[in-house]
Amino acid sequence: MLNFELYNPVNYVFGKGQIEKLNDLVPNNAKILIAYGGGSIFKNGIYDQVKTALPNHNIVEFGGIEPNPRFETLMKAVEIIRAEKIDFILAVGGGSVIDGVKFISAAVNYEGDTVDILRKRILFKDVSKVIPFGTVLTLPATGSEMNSGAVVTIDATQEKLTLGGSALFPVFSIVDPTVIISLPKRQLQNGVVDAFTHVMEQYLTYTHDAFLQDRIAESILQTLIEIGPDVVENPSDYKLASNFVWSATMALNGLIQKGVPSDWATHMIGHELTALYEIDHARTLAIIGPNLYKVMFETKKEKLAQYGKRVWNISEGSTEEIAEKAIEKTISFFHTMGMKTKLSENTENYQKTADFIVNRFEERGWKAMGEKQNITLEKVRAIVEMSY
Ligand code: NZQ
Ligand code: ZN
Repeated sequence: MLNFELYNPVNYVFGKGQIEKLNDLVPNNAKILIAYGGGSIFKNGIYDQVKTALPNHNIVEFGGIEPNPRFETLMKAVEIIRAEKIDFILAVGGGSVIDGVKFISAAVNYEGDTVDILRKRILFKDVSKVIPFGTVLTLPATGSEMNSGAVVTIDATQEKLTLGGSALFPVFSIVDPTVIISLPKRQLQNGVVDAFTHVMEQYLTYTHDAFLQDRIAESILQTLIEIGPDVVENPSDYKLASNFVWSATMALNGLIQKGVPSDWATHMIGHELTALYEIDHARTLAIIGPNLYKVMFETKKEKLAQYGKRVWNISEGSTEEIAEKAIEKTISFFHTMGMKTKLSENTENYQKTADFIVNRFEERGWKAMGEKQNITLEKVRAIVEMSY
């Protein structure tokens, strides 16, 4: 097992009715900015629950954070916080709102050009330099409620870039599984596939001796396979909803990544598809992931076979055969979850995508990705072209 440090300070408050606890969780006398997205919180009653729970605080509101949050929009919130002397931010939304708030939190006191936070991937480690924030999660998918990473798009250049650092964990996150009742089916499907792929990025590498991490990863995958198809049909079933939400958090709260190699190239390539074509994040992963496993088959085949045996119960065949069947099972699960796994099924003008992505990665110096740094630009090209 590799050496690791496990640090996760998030006060994770889970369950029905927990939004009522906001008043105890938000610092007394704090002037708060409530940040939200396009308005779903007004339709499903979450806004009312939040306002009712915070009767005495001085509150300023900032709405309009888009899915795949834009740097340009977030900078407007940064200006408001600077002008209004806000002490605390409350993100009420899905991964986009929470990620947006992480950027805002980091940018307010940043002494420099705030676009560099993304371009130079500045790490934020000093909590005294960021604005503290909490979250009320409304969409289980990203794990952003319990991690310190975020993804923000620069509209001007169509670049989707990451930021993060140990100072950017939420102080608390309220996770009430009943919030998923109002989610469109498409978003529920996205949530399952995003969480599933987060586990795959940290698990589907090469075989190693971190037995516990493997078993935890496999059990998250099995839980998502078991409940995924049903939860998108019956989001008001609390048994399904609660297991879904907790699986999505566990998939990317840092735990299963400790002591093991990880890949993340599916996400790096997928982010480009969202930046270029605005394809939903999870849907880009369903397009790229299985093709990455095929192109990187020699590197991943032993782990693919372990995954095939333990997660999909495939018992017959050689290592290669089980590994191949495991990829087919994954694609078929994504189809069950409503994904279209070819790029051409998601956008029309895809023909130059591989050239574009390879050029971009070359400019950024991303020439050796994956758990063995052997996903070269040629491999990226092959993965993207296989996805057409
Ligand atoms: O904007 P509103 O009106 O709130 O509507 C949203 C949005 O249109 C809607 N929605 C959210 N909760 C709802 C709801 N509608 C009805 N009822 C509810 N309870 O759903 C739509 C999508 O929301 P969004 O926040 O964009 O989705 P998601 O949570 O999937 O977040 C995706 C973003 O997270 C990033 C992605 O790249 C993408 O930008 N990621 C963040 C990660 C992280 N921080 O660790 C990791 C992920 O891999 C991912 O990259
Ligand atoms: Zn993701």
